[in-house]
Amino acid sequence: MFAKRYHDRLNLQKEQGLYRDPIRIDQRNGKYLCIDSRRILNFGSNDYLGLGSSQALAQKVARHFETLGASASSSRLVSGNYRIICQAEDAFADYFGYQAALFFPSGFQANAGILAALFEKGDRVFFDKHIHASSVNGLMLSRAHIYGYNHNNLAHLKKRLDACADGQAAVITESLFSMDGDVLPCDDLLTVKSQSQFLCVVDEAHAFGVLGEKGKGLARPVADIAIGTFGKALGLFGAFVLLPAMIKEYLLNFCAPMIYTTTLPAAHAASAMDVLEMIEKADEQRRHLHDISRYMALKLVHQGFEVNGDAHVLSVLMGDEKKARRISRKLLEKNIYVLPARYPTVPLGKAILRISLTALHTKRDIDNFISALKDVEQFFYY
Ligand SMILES: Cc1ncc(COP(=O)(O)O)c(C=O)c1O
Repeated sequence: MFAKRYHDRLNLQKEQGLYRDPIRIDQRNGKYLCIDSRRILNFGSNDYLGLGSSQALAQKVARHFETLGASASSSRLVSGNYRIICQAEDAFADYFGYQAALFFPSGFQANAGILAALFEKGDRVFFDKHIHASSVNGLMLSRAHIYGYNHNNLAHLKKRLDACADGQAAVITESLFSMDGDVLPCDDLLTVKSQSQFLCVVDEAHAFGVLGEKGKGLARPVADIAIGTFGKALGLFGAFVLLPAMIKEYLLNFCAPMIYTTTLPAAHAASAMDVLEMIEKADEQRRHLHDISRYMALKLVHQGFEVNGDAHVLSVLMGDEKKARRISRKLLEKNIYVLPARYPTVPLGKAILRISLTALHTKRDIDNFISALKDVEQFFYY
């Protein structure tokens, strides 16, 4: 019964070039993936500062797990509310300049959980059409009236806000968009906010640690609530939400995906505090990442590719899904990995190569990537 449906959908997925079959990785070594004894230069990692593959952090984390144990063995509200988790949350709130912070097991759970908990039927929630799937999920669960506005188009947002002005409003967006790689015009959003009044929720998953002074992100002036993940520049796993103390209290009481799940262990909180210190000291990595990202963007444009991206995430437009996948596979044969991002991660017919740079990359890596891309692009056509 069900099997036929699943089988048919998988076949359709293959026919449309949308099939997902992730490469199997033996090991990671800094900017390289090891696959069947081959060393693959990785442009698909969110380890923007290199912390996720650093021995220094791994050793600190290992020590915390040794002393504090492997699991909290409980949800936060039962017997998992360890003092060290509360201290780490306070340290994160302080560092990023918010009243409070709340840790979640993952960024997906954070976005899906908080949006579902904070909004309900009758509320008006406006969202950038390119927000992450986790936020879309949260909005669907909330049952609020939802209104999409064109990507990063704040004039369109304003128009939509003016057209439906009854009831409480919220705006959901990202500061560095995960696929397009472009940056939210925070000052413009602040202007719209001063005219229209709304609760502003900004996902800074790809910005925290990297962008803004000391990696504090871009959106603090406009955001009431911000979401960060540990799994990207912060080199760990899990997520944190930065928010007013009263909303934290509300989520501890009403956010089901936070209440009914095993909390991150105390060892995670101790590790998170180490990460915060490392982030603060990472100016050199941030500067290098900025420089090589510009270098990559300019070189790609110079070679005639259609490129988007204001920082360390770049997207090269492929359009056709099959082309994107095939080019990615051909690059793999040349020992380079890059993600072919396809529908529904990006709109249909707008497949991209999503390039993420890390502070571990060098200009030489970028030159190699671009010459390999040039080679396989030609191969695709002839
Ligand atoms: C913008 C954005 N938000 C949230 C998430 C989810 O974070 P996590 O990987 O911690 O679940 C991602 C992950 O890809 C993301 O790109």
